Amino acid sequence: MTPLRNDTLLRALLCEPTDYTPIWLMRQAGRYLPEYNATRARAGSFLALAKSPALATEVTLQPLERFALDAAILFSDILTVPDAMGLGLSFTAGEGPRFERPLRDEAAIRALAAPDPGAELRYVLDAVREIRRALDGRVPLIGFSGSPYTLACYMVEGSGSADWRTVKTMLYARPDLLRRILEVNTRAVTDYLNAQIEAGAQAVMIFDTWGGSLGHRAYEQFSLAYMREVVAGLTKVNEGRRIPSIIFTKGGGQWLEAIASSGCDAVGLDWTTDAGQARRRVGDRVALQGNLDPLALFAPPDSVREEARRVLEGFGTAPGHVFNLGHGIAQQTPVESVAALVDEVLTYSKRMRQS
Ligand code: CP3
Repeated sequence: MTPLRNDTLLRALLCEPTDYTPIWLMRQAGRYLPEYNATRARAGSFLALAKSPALATEVTLQPLERFALDAAILFSDILTVPDAMGLGLSFTAGEGPRFERPLRDEAAIRALAAPDPGAELRYVLDAVREIRRALDGRVPLIGFSGSPYTLACYMVEGSGSADWRTVKTMLYARPDLLRRILEVNTRAVTDYLNAQIEAGAQAVMIFDTWGGSLGHRAYEQFSLAYMREVVAGLTKVNEGRRIPSIIFTKGGGQWLEAIASSGCDAVGLDWTTDAGQARRRVGDRVALQGNLDPLALFAPPDSVREEARRVLEGFGTAPGHVFNLGHGIAQQTPVESVAALVDEVLTYSKRMRQS
């Protein structure tokens, strides 16, 4: 493998000093980019795009051609894992994901099993290998998975939901059934992330998008406990380098200390948490990733630059900050805003280290 020419992201994730603050964006390859929409149209659908290693490689690299980003993130989706478990994933225009066979009865839950990533998810591992070849050492590749709980949300509910009533009813009425799903998911997520690492992912992120909808006790028992188990089971070193892990619970700011003690190397923050306070609460135990409000990108470039400086100053110059949005980039985001953001983070974070 070609040596990594820009390892700024990996060093920041391990709280090592860097010349500037590295930046990447959740959903950086997505519908705000016209070239993404063109490739997606050629593929025919989002799932066909995600299932073609060649096209997934093409869209993974698209944002890197436009912006000086410090990482690529595998183009895929968290829901490929339940799809591989046989739940039958589809995406309908304007409605988001849907499972044909959601987990609604005890028999289906007892029959659930973790997929073999080398078989059912082979197309993802092929994409990881192809992206690594195409990157040729430019920047590191981040692999990812949904958290056991966030995957369970979609698996039980069968689609997205405003209140997650079905899965939360199971949590309170039949916690034994939900635990059984979470145990299978923990095995599946651990195996899947380790297979991505083996195929060439140089850092991994766990998306716990819906952990923040849980009550205080339930978050610890039904989401964080299982993510802790995943992190403990991850391959720590590959190709002679440490593989950092990132946990991102959207809406999880109040549990920051607990997440920081889970064994992960970095914690993702959404925009509702103050950066300076977050840093004081976790000290130098973990790196922090975030946390610009994605909607700040809808203002003119000068305002984007000002907000970027505010986030950078909030985190300060101590090692261990990776710049990102507080959640995925929105579909209608102006491309010029992203260009202004990436430029400001590089120039201003360099200047902060010099003064
Ligand atoms: O960050 C990246 O650039 C990597 C690719 C990535 C996608 N989804 C591509 C995608 C990642 C890391 C995800 C994670 C994901 N997927 C999450 C967790 C993070 C989050 O955003 O909260 C969740 C909850 C999903 C499930 C999912 N996938 C939903 C709800 C949707 C529909 C959203 C919509 O606006 O229609 C998707 C589809 C999806 N995944 C798209 C992309 C680029 C848009 C699909 C399209 O091109 O039509």
